[in-house]
Amino acid sequence: MTTVIDRIIKDHQHMARLLDYLDYEVSGYREGSEHNPQLNIIIEALDYMHNYPDAFHHPLESRLMARLRPRLASKEERVQFDMIEDQHRQITAMTQRLVEAFNTVASDQVIPINLLLAEYTLYSELQREHMELENQYMIPAMQSLLSVDDLVLVDNDLKQMSDPLFGSHLWEVYQNLYQYVTERENGVEPVI
Ligand SMILES: [Fe+2]
Ligand SMILES: [Fe+2]
Repeated sequence: MTTVIDRIIKDHQHMARLLDYLDYEVSGYREGSEHNPQLNIIIEALDYMHNYPDAFHHPLESRLMARLRPRLASKEERVQFDMIEDQHRQITAMTQRLVEAFNTVASDQVIPINLLLAEYTLYSELQREHMELENQYMIPAMQSLLSVDDLVLVDNDLKQMSDPLFGSHLWEVYQNLYQYVTERENGVEPVI
């Protein structure tokens, strides 16, 4: 049986890969870059971040952390949990702003690109830092403290939403992104 913990770990692997691709595409907007950025891929990837990690993955983690909190042994763990919750709020707000900003770029309106690049860099760093923090504190706490009953309770949630890009049912809006990711994984395009 795939548990919610396996799912969260898998999601992190997928997000890390997607962030690598996003970093590469966004880098095409930097001065002197020879890479021609694929704006549709950037927008689809950010839209995916909005529709799956922000809408499902982080809220699921938050619910599980709320169950775990009374069982935590140390103050340090509680402080780290608070930090993870803060980051969930920051990440969701930043994804929203970046989706809007790159859509503005797509509509050919003038936008201060250096500000956008700076905001994107903060976002990418925060996402990676966040996953590291979760892998270091949240996942081990889940592995040692969640009971079988907890896992059964959230199992229904998992069935309600599969990953729309890496899961069993691909959303039509992510077809280009899916192809992009697959080509890189199969070595058709250079791996970043
Ligand atoms: Fe998270
Ligand atoms: Fe996470």
